[in-house]
Amino acid sequence: MAEQTMGLLDDEAVVERVLGHVDNATSDMGESVWREPVDNYHSQERFRSEVELLKHLPIPFCPSAAIPEAGSYVARVAAGTPLLVVRDENGDVRAFRNACRHRGMQVAEGTGCKKYFVCTYHGWAYRLDGSLRYIPHRHGFPDIDDASHGLVPVEAVERHGMVFVTQEEAVGLGALEGLDDIPQLITPDQHIFDSSEKTSDVHWKLNIEAMLEGLHIKFTHPESFYPYGYDNLNVVECFGNNNRVTFPFRRIEKLRDTPPAERDVAGKVTYVYHLFPNVTIVVLSNHTALSISEPISPTRTRFFNYRLTNSGEGSDADNVARAKRDAEFVLDTGGKEDAAAIQAIQAGLNSSANQLHLWPFREGDCALPPGVERQPAGIKGIRALLKRPAWQPCQIDL
Ligand code: FES
Ligand SMILES: [Fe+2]
Repeated sequence: MAEQTMGLLDDEAVVERVLGHVDNATSDMGESVWREPVDNYHSQERFRSEVELLKHLPIPFCPSAAIPEAGSYVARVAAGTPLLVVRDENGDVRAFRNACRHRGMQVAEGTGCKKYFVCTYHGWAYRLDGSLRYIPHRHGFPDIDDASHGLVPVEAVERHGMVFVTQEEAVGLGALEGLDDIPQLITPDQHIFDSSEKTSDVHWKLNIEAMLEGLHIKFTHPESFYPYGYDNLNVVECFGNNNRVTFPFRRIEKLRDTPPAERDVAGKVTYVYHLFPNVTIVVLSNHTALSISEPISPTRTRFFNYRLTNSGEGSDADNVARAKRDAEFVLDTGGKEDAAAIQAIQAGLNSSANQLHLWPFREGDCALPPGVERQPAGIKGIRALLKRPAWQPCQIDL
């Protein structure tokens, strides 16, 4: 009998559970119907609370591979705050509020590699550790204490091949909870072959929700995903506040004759990892897609997307070419279909037709050993955190 180990089912157990669902025409389900108030997608007040919450949790900012060497940096807005993440001369990751200590200009934009950061407004310069390096026209600032005018740091830590940033005093472990119990999500050999950003007129949670259920496969993806997969046949698991939803391909049934211990799921399932609350990592047949949803308004979201070769594939040219073909296929077919559906749901939100959205299960409603209680995970967990009478700051032991 396969065991649940390391916080998630191993391959053998996933295959066993999937084949059981195939045989019985079942899927992992929650215990009750989840009703999400539609106002939670509309409300400006709710939106402000969610963005505030994002500042108080460790949130994946970028893959570690996006800043491979000393001086490599990524500058972007996260939860409304301009941030700069850089690898310093010792190889450690640092994060700063991206605002010059003179008059607040951003000291870096986008991505690149620098020995130090020079503000393009009046030329104040900062080292990779954030310390103030130089002030032009120094005689105009006779009283400035350099030591207290470095870039303002924020908490940054590397885990599972990603950089997590916590902007304000943490109210929980967020996505970091349970990560130590699962295998590395992004391994050092995985090569980023594409990074992009895209802004869409949709609520930030809609895109994530669309990736966490398989009820729509037959109707939304009749010629793209459905011929190779199943409708409403998923394995749903939780680790900490996070989830993994397994979408099997029909070819997984070929493993029936393979001894259980030799069952390898590579190419036979798509794993969708949801890192609480605004990040997804999708491990497809020939590439891995990491997407970070940055809320702009209740009806507008910027997506930061990274595409990588799969674990074990490295940066070999043939593997990269195969990963690119896989990514293009997914984006041109099912990806477009999902995007169209999400746009249509956003329009439906504005129709005032519904007060509630219904789910037969909710991500986070997964089986737990008897007697184990937990806070709701996934998007549902946002509601649980926001419902606390007062956020309780907690110490994160990193
Ligand atoms: S705002 Fe940066 S040097 Fe003036
Ligand atoms: Fe879909």
